Amino acid sequence: MFQQLKQLSSDSILGLMAKYRADASTDKVDLGVGVYRDLHGNTPILECVRRAEKEVLAAQTTKSYVAAAGREEFNQLAEELVLGAQHPARLERRARTVQTPGGCGALRVGAELIRAAMPGATVHLSDPTWGNHAPLLGSSGLKLARYPYYDPTAHHLRFDAMLQQLEGAAAGDVVLVHACCHNPSGADLSASQWESLAELLQRRGLFPFLDLAYQGFGASLDEDAAAPRMIARRLPEALIAISYSKNLGLYRERVGALISISENAERADAVQSHVLQTARSIYSMPPDHGAAIAAKIFADANLRRDWVVELDAMRNRFQEMRLLLASNLRDTTAGGDFDFIGSQRGMFSLLGVSPGAVERLRERHHIYMTHDSRMNLAGIMPHNVRYVAEAIAAER
Ligand SMILES: Cc1ncc(COP(=O)(O)O)c(C=O)c1O
Repeated sequence: MFQQLKQLSSDSILGLMAKYRADASTDKVDLGVGVYRDLHGNTPILECVRRAEKEVLAAQTTKSYVAAAGREEFNQLAEELVLGAQHPARLERRARTVQTPGGCGALRVGAELIRAAMPGATVHLSDPTWGNHAPLLGSSGLKLARYPYYDPTAHHLRFDAMLQQLEGAAAGDVVLVHACCHNPSGADLSASQWESLAELLQRRGLFPFLDLAYQGFGASLDEDAAAPRMIARRLPEALIAISYSKNLGLYRERVGALISISENAERADAVQSHVLQTARSIYSMPPDHGAAIAAKIFADANLRRDWVVELDAMRNRFQEMRLLLASNLRDTTAGGDFDFIGSQRGMFSLLGVSPGAVERLRERHHIYMTHDSRMNLAGIMPHNVRYVAEAIAAER
């Protein structure tokens, strides 16, 4: 059996992490891995998570199975957090939510659902997009295509080209859009661009699949959910994949959810039955521990207030580093070529330099980023920002 299988090359981000660990330089800077880091370079457990976890463990009396949909209270609270309690889709019972193993689980279950409903559909992904989108959606057997999204050397959205390309997509095709804090570019659609996109999706019969992995990392929990709320109001059907890996720092606990929006309550029940069967056939049930912690934080007013404070601090941390890096680059390059870093959102930006420059930054300066020149701004610290800016100025 296994003789057929050839060794695969290692995932490039894992390869990069290994190189970083092996680098003995005291100057080394990790801008590669996509996790939040505090000023000490740690990816901490949030205080609200520590407290909620203690309460969860103290109250737990069994490890018996929960359900294919996961925890019902988590699902209701996650849905509320994304759509808002009084969203028409909720009041009209058009929304259904299941807990999934992280955002990846939500994306994969969503892909399987689409494949069951419309096997010939093509999923249109942004160019560029997060490296795991194509494997997660493509492994369901759906066809993949790319729409222009961001120009990494001119540092701006390619919105007109995006709309033009999507005009040509077939009715029933799926358009996957990052709901906020686009990974890797940090460039999001404006409110009026979202409206234009919604109009196009509706007119052309295209299906929106939104990926919300960074709610609260852009502006605030509510503002970052504006696009999913608008889409769920204006279009009859949609899917929203949610991740709590970053905004609750629950990465390894695998906490996510999938919201489906259907045209009426009866259809929503039918969709939900397929979602549950899909979950059952892949992993049976999502892990409970992280979702129990998340549900406690969402439901308890004190924990939730403290979470928002911690979330604001994480966001401010990389917003400050964006401004600091942009201003240092202004000094070291004697120009405004990198000002865009200061105005983008979320943890990532594309520096927009060649793979050769990325390599020189690594080999000569011990600065690590992915080959597309994606930087995790949470890797920048006040003590290394000048060093990074000087290296970029020398090698760009
Ligand atoms: C754009 C995007 N979507 C989804 C995810 C899924 O994350 P997880 O499965 O760890 O919750 C990530 C994580 O990096 C992401 O960047």
